[in-house]
Amino acid sequence: MDIGIDKIGFYAPHLYVDMNKLAVSREVEPEKFTIGIGQEKMAVAPITQDTVTLAANAALDILTEADKEKIDFVIFGTETGVDHSKSAGVYIHHLLGMNPWARTVEVKQACYGATAAIQMAKGHIALNPSSKVLVLGADIARYGLKTSGEATQGAGAIAMVISAEPKIMKLEEHSAYLTADVMDFWRPVYSEMALVDGKLSNEQYISFFSKIWGKYKEKSGLALQDFEAICYHLPYTKMGYKALKTVLDETAEETQERLLSNYKISTQYSRNIGNIYTGSLYLALLSLLEQKEDLAAGSRIGLFSYGSGAVGEFFTGILQPNYRNYLNTRQHTELFSARTEVSVSEYEQIFAETLPKDGTSIELDTDQDPAKICLAGMKDHMRQYIHKTK
Ligand code: HMG
Repeated sequence: MDIGIDKIGFYAPHLYVDMNKLAVSREVEPEKFTIGIGQEKMAVAPITQDTVTLAANAALDILTEADKEKIDFVIFGTETGVDHSKSAGVYIHHLLGMNPWARTVEVKQACYGATAAIQMAKGHIALNPSSKVLVLGADIARYGLKTSGEATQGAGAIAMVISAEPKIMKLEEHSAYLTADVMDFWRPVYSEMALVDGKLSNEQYISFFSKIWGKYKEKSGLALQDFEAICYHLPYTKMGYKALKTVLDETAEETQERLLSNYKISTQYSRNIGNIYTGSLYLALLSLLEQKEDLAAGSRIGLFSYGSGAVGEFFTGILQPNYRNYLNTRQHTELFSARTEVSVSEYEQIFAETLPKDGTSIELDTDQDPAKICLAGMKDHMRQYIHKTK
């Protein structure tokens, strides 16, 4: 039985800051951000969007009533959870009106969370072939104003339906994965900002890729020429390129050119959004599928997932016949073009706006946020969500 990605949706907040202007304001050369880091625009989440609303908005447009009936497992990968106890997925289960006869959990391992969710979903479908699983990956990346990580912030969500006989991409059997205790990036429970050793994190990402790719080749017997493209977790778009570069001399020039050209297409969406942590690898996949019009069904796509701390995995999928008919390309193009630019000082103000931490109630103005699902405030220590079209 084939198991894989049947549907894929994406959502990002409606605001962004231009990286050239951010660079000027931070007194660095714009090329450092646009070429050295590889980012053009950075999504900015208003206070009316949290990971629950981002993921709910991403799932909203891909789910039909029939999907909601079939989905009996909701797995939410996030490292920006809104509660130490209650799974963020349960709010989404309610907001989207899902089948109550479902399991819902949150999983965490930095940017690897959504990949863990996909692998769990695959196992669930193998045991229950007629069910479907909703996998969500949403995060808001925050390092702090004027930090070296600032240029690699972002916000957004990916939603995927995993099922048997998938319409977009079947997942193949072989996969290689690795865990090592590394303090390259973490966020203590008392902190709203991530802490990072930038240089170490870059080194670990590449070292994980190199070890895991070696293991994957051993397990699968495949080599670079067997891939049409490799998509990477993209904390910033230069990062995957650095990893890809380390293995290119394993293959002939023609394959090198193909992988490099497809890598570039896979980074187009992230270049304009920034790091969305758990969803980032799948945003790269979406960018490749939607923006490379001649990508043939039957192509093998490699996927490299890396979550600091650290866990990494390399796995693969095969594009299904007529997969393009099941993408929401037009809707995503509209999402990008309908965004509003904010100035650096507006971005700084938005960044400073946080929910009260002392239990005080607050009502938020959701009229300014075009999203269908928004955070409307806090009352009695509980987040209040609204679904404007319900
Ligand atoms: P930095 O110190 O600001 O930048 O930190 P830099 O000095 O290393 O410069 C960056 C690049 O810009 C360099 O290129 C410079 O040469 C180039 P490289 O040598 O790396 O190829 N540069 C220029 N290029 C063109 N024109 C110029 C110019 N000036 C400089 N004028 C860093 C950069 C990414 C480390 C920082 O932003 C950071 O710490 N970010 C957060 C950590 C991160 O993203 N790590 C990535 C790997 S870990 C990961 O992926 C997991 C993660 O997603 C978290 C999770 O798992 O949950 C982060």
